[in-house]
Formats: sequence, C-alpha cells, structure tokens
Amino acid sequence: MNILAIESSCDETACAVVRDGKEVLSNIVATQIAEHRLYGGVVPEIASRMHAECIYQVVQAALDESGCTLKEIDAIAVTYAPGLIGALLVGISFAKGLALSAGKPLIPVHHIAGHIAANYLSNPELEPPYLGLVVSGGHSHIVEVLDYTRYRVVGRTHDDAAGECFDKVARTLGYEYPGGKFIDEAAKVGVPQAYRFPHPKVEGCEYDFSFSGLKTAVINLVHNSDQKGETLVREDVAASFQRTVCEILVGKTMAAAEALGYRTIGLAGGVSANSGVRSALKNACDRRGFKLFMPELKYCGDNAAMIGCQGYYDYLAGKRADQSLNGIATLSLDKISEQS
Ligand code: KG4
Ligand code: ZN
Repeated sequence: MNILAIESSCDETACAVVRDGKEVLSNIVATQIAEHRLYGGVVPEIASRMHAECIYQVVQAALDESGCTLKEIDAIAVTYAPGLIGALLVGISFAKGLALSAGKPLIPVHHIAGHIAANYLSNPELEPPYLGLVVSGGHSHIVEVLDYTRYRVVGRTHDDAAGECFDKVARTLGYEYPGGKFIDEAAKVGVPQAYRFPHPKVEGCEYDFSFSGLKTAVINLVHNSDQKGETLVREDVAASFQRTVCEILVGKTMAAAEALGYRTIGLAGGVSANSGVRSALKNACDRRGFKLFMPELKYCGDNAAMIGCQGYYDYLAGKRADQSLNGIATLSLDKISEQS
C-alpha cells in the first residue's frame, strides 16, 4: 500500500511516499529555518505563508522521486495536530483537495505519533509495547507505546520542552536559531563537569519534567559573568548544560521503565538527534540490559516519512477523515488513544 504523506505543523514543508509503513520511496523536506532565523524563532504567520508557497512543488517532487503516479497512491495521510494552526491548515487543505480530487482515503495523523513511528522506519524489528522518550521542540514526553495507535503519557514537561530549552540556552550563548545542534557540537569539545546546574524539582508525577529552572540557571550564569566582565568558555557551559539535560532525561526514563516493567526503550523527536542524549541513553540501557531503539538522524527532525509510516498503522486501525477535517493546535496522545 502506497501512502502519500504531508507534514506542515511547524517550519518544515514535507511530503513523502511510504510503502506498507516501512519502505520510504521518497522523502522531501523544504525547511524554512533560514527565514525564521532572522527573528530568532518561528514566526507563525511567515510559516503559513511559506508552506502555502511551496507545498505544491514539495508534493510534486515527492511523487516524482517515488516513481509513483497519483493513480498508484492508495491513501493520503496528513498531520492534523498538534502544531501551529495556520501551518497545519496549509497541509490539511492541500491533502483534502488531493484526496477529494483523486478519490483517495484521507488519514489524519498525530504529529507526535509520527515522531514515535520514525523508529519503525529505522528499526523494523521494533514492536510495541515499549516505553518511548519523545523530545522535540514543542514536547517532552515519557510515553507507554501500548500498540501502534494507542499511547499512555506517563510524564510530560510542566514548562519548556527539551528542544525549546536547548534553543533558548543556545541563544543566550550566541548561537543561531535553532541552536540545539550548535550546543551538541560545542559540547563535544567543552568540559561537561565545568559547571553544576540544578536538577529541577517537579511537583506531581515523578516522571514529569521541568526545564525552565535549568534554562534560567544558565542564563543567570552568563549574565552574571557578563556583568563582572568575565569571559566564559561557552563550550564548557554548553557541555555542562547538555550533561544536565541528559541526566534528567535518562534518569526519569530509566525510573519509569523500571517501575512500569519495560525493558525496551524508543527515543524520538528532534532532540533525539543529540549525540549526548543518544550515548547517555545507550549507556544507561546497556547497563540494565534494556534494548534501545533510535531513529536514524534523517528521521529525527520533522519529516513526512514518519507521517506516512504512522498513517499506515492508523489506516489499518480504521482511522479516516472526511472533508470536515480541521487542524488542532493542542491535542494530547492520550486523547487520540481514547478514540481508537
Ligand atoms: O521534532 P522537531 O524537529 O520539531 C518539533 O516537533 O518541535 O524538533 C526540533 C527541536 C529544536 O528545538 C532543535 O533545536 C532540536 O530539536 N534539535 C536538537 C538537535 N537537533 C535538533 N537539540 C539538541 N541537539 C541536536 N543535535
Ligand atoms: Zn516535530
């Protein structure tokens, strides 16, 4: 079964053709990062307009590269939640038009479920149930992946998402948006023990996260040293910050896995590209004899191949949308599990 998938929830216009949920025939990503960089973050209005400007070409390119004609496409999958509403609507409107004119079923896909599914592309042997750690620019979740379309979120962030925290710390250190990957690079040459940052206390669920206190601690360190006229080695700050994030993410994930009885972990989301997070999680899993699955780097950030993969499982589970499909800015994975 060939699924044409469209993703436009944030600042990447993406389209892919995926066969049977595993074979990626094409995967086109048009990024708007250079445009948003001028403003230090994603400007929603610009994002919507840029999606509208290039979606036709991106879809056509994905179709061309896949070698499939529209006739050979069996269904259209599209990200409908969560994300920037104006950005989502561009992809949804295009997908609805295509589904209607070509007479294909339309499959609504949850963006975070898509990130989780990226692992099935890179690791076909991975099967639910397992424990997921999803860390992106907008979300930080520890989630029980019960089957391919049902989830139970057991930990979430109370404030900033992990990627958001990486980006804000990066900006304070003078790196361009989105700075996560620059922190990653700097951390490779910095001293991770140079600074001690706090591990935030979180009220409520023991697997929940909070990153705003850590972000503030780094910002205060940088500002205080500026005021005193001292120079900080920013690679050392980056390395110490990244070490702390790794300790928090890995500590909570291992605690949740042990308490809930999971021995298989799946990492996902944009921050899963971080080399420190990947190796810290790998070491922690190896020590416990847990299996760890991570997406290849090309499937960590936003892309449509992951939406095409998840769309396949959603299709098998009977999920369909009609022409009334709308975008939803905020929608928890728990909510979509109630519906399946
Ligand atoms: O999943 P994603 O592409 O978009 C959302 O759904 O939010 O995640 C983007 C986030 C950004 O915050 C970006 O800085 C971060 O992932 N990121 C990284 C790395 N690569 C991307 N953070 C840390 N280290 C990286 N290597
Ligand atoms: Zn994402």
